[in-house]
Amino acid sequence: MITWGISANSHNASLAIFEDSKLLFASDSERFSKIKNDPNLNEDLVEYARMVSGYPDLVCWYEKPWLKTLRQLFAGQGWQDNNIKNYLSKYDINAPIKTFKHHHTHAAAAYYTSPYDSACVVIIDAIGEFETLTIWQAEGKKLKKVYSSLYPDSLGLFYSAMTQRCGLKPNEEEYILMGMAAYGDRKRLYKNIIEDFVRFPHRESYNPIMFKVNLHRGCNWWKPKLQSEQDRFDIAAATQYVYEQSFTRILQMAKEIVGGDNLVLGGGCALNCSANPIAFEYFDNVWIPPAPGDNGSSIGAVLAHQKNHIENFTPYLGTSINAKTPNELIVDHLIKNKICGVARGRAEFGPRALGNRSLLADPRDPDIKERVNDIKQREQFRPFAPAILEEYANDYFFMPTTSTPFMQFTVRCRRPDLFPAIVHKDGTSRVQTVGKDDNQEFRKLLELWHAKTGCPMLLNTSLNIKGQPIVNDVSDSFNWSRIHGLPVFN
Ligand SMILES: [Fe+2]
Repeated sequence: MITWGISANSHNASLAIFEDSKLLFASDSERFSKIKNDPNLNEDLVEYARMVSGYPDLVCWYEKPWLKTLRQLFAGQGWQDNNIKNYLSKYDINAPIKTFKHHHTHAAAAYYTSPYDSACVVIIDAIGEFETLTIWQAEGKKLKKVYSSLYPDSLGLFYSAMTQRCGLKPNEEEYILMGMAAYGDRKRLYKNIIEDFVRFPHRESYNPIMFKVNLHRGCNWWKPKLQSEQDRFDIAAATQYVYEQSFTRILQMAKEIVGGDNLVLGGGCALNCSANPIAFEYFDNVWIPPAPGDNGSSIGAVLAHQKNHIENFTPYLGTSINAKTPNELIVDHLIKNKICGVARGRAEFGPRALGNRSLLADPRDPDIKERVNDIKQREQFRPFAPAILEEYANDYFFMPTTSTPFMQFTVRCRRPDLFPAIVHKDGTSRVQTVGKDDNQEFRKLLELWHAKTGCPMLLNTSLNIKGQPIVNDVSDSFNWSRIHGLPVFN
């Protein structure tokens, strides 16, 4: 039986294909349409999906359309067309449809891809139908919701509103605000934010995310004038600080209600890799899937229906490019020229390039950060991440856990002086560990780089032309190479 999971008609549309309980494919629409965070399904993606599996027997949809319509009316957004049968028929998808609640599909995407038999599951996002924070008790195949906070109290909406206040794009550039936080003074505007926005709980078990105002439409009215870049950095730092305080209260509450050693995090806020390490203060093991946002809910919708764990989940689920170039050639090029692209194997699902659609560089070179930021045409304050052989990670970083294969945690670097290209202003790096059972081709490339240079890590950033999604197929990689005058090895 072929089941398609679909998340679309909001932001970051995606499609996942299951044959019975086997996950065959998953991709964001943006990789096919070339529109970043494309909210809609794309003809080419649907065509590709048909090539993989033929027409689906069943479609699982990532939220409850009628509940969403109700919330949109409640929020003053007017009547919105959420008729998914009509929506899907435009793409010639006419299979029977099952719908699941937004936070349920987040929870299913996160828990059923985890290696745990039981866990406390915490979902934090901007807004589902009405829910903005849910806590679940997961036991075997069962997911039981034990707590929820409702719109308009939303940590995600708060973070997005501040993203917009700093002149960035809400629902898209929150990661830039997170990066800016390292340059700011978190105390300078903290009191203003608390006084103007936050209501603290009266007692421990009370809603940990309460706000004085509805931040759904942003807070561009908020007083502080942005007279310098430093003002924006200070807002970012205070925002991140408030986020981390709220996140801590949520974790305390989750530990109290559900307990256990295993935590699973999902929802768009689980991409806050600066805050995520706090989770290890309350839980021994933490799992965050590579696509915890709404795009991951295409997988989650099917898993909510099937209630099946995926064994040995991999993020390499997208379009395939045959690896042709020997690793020796790529490593020799990196030693000589310091930078190159790689586009081979199956594309990663989620926002991070994890070695199959990556721009790689020597992390030891002091000029590399500036060069790569120039290539990517982005602000010089933006950090880059390292991919490191897993067994060496703790030698170079203060790791809270042995394995972080999806770059979901920032950790302090032990030797920032040795690796200037991958250490952020605050001395941290968003580490990707590459273990013996992870991506084999990338692992071999890193092993060879290590053998020839003595350095067990490479700078790893996404291979994309500014403003565009990560490259998808061979012709994208050829275009990237032509525009930037650098080789991309397939
Ligand atoms: Fe969501």
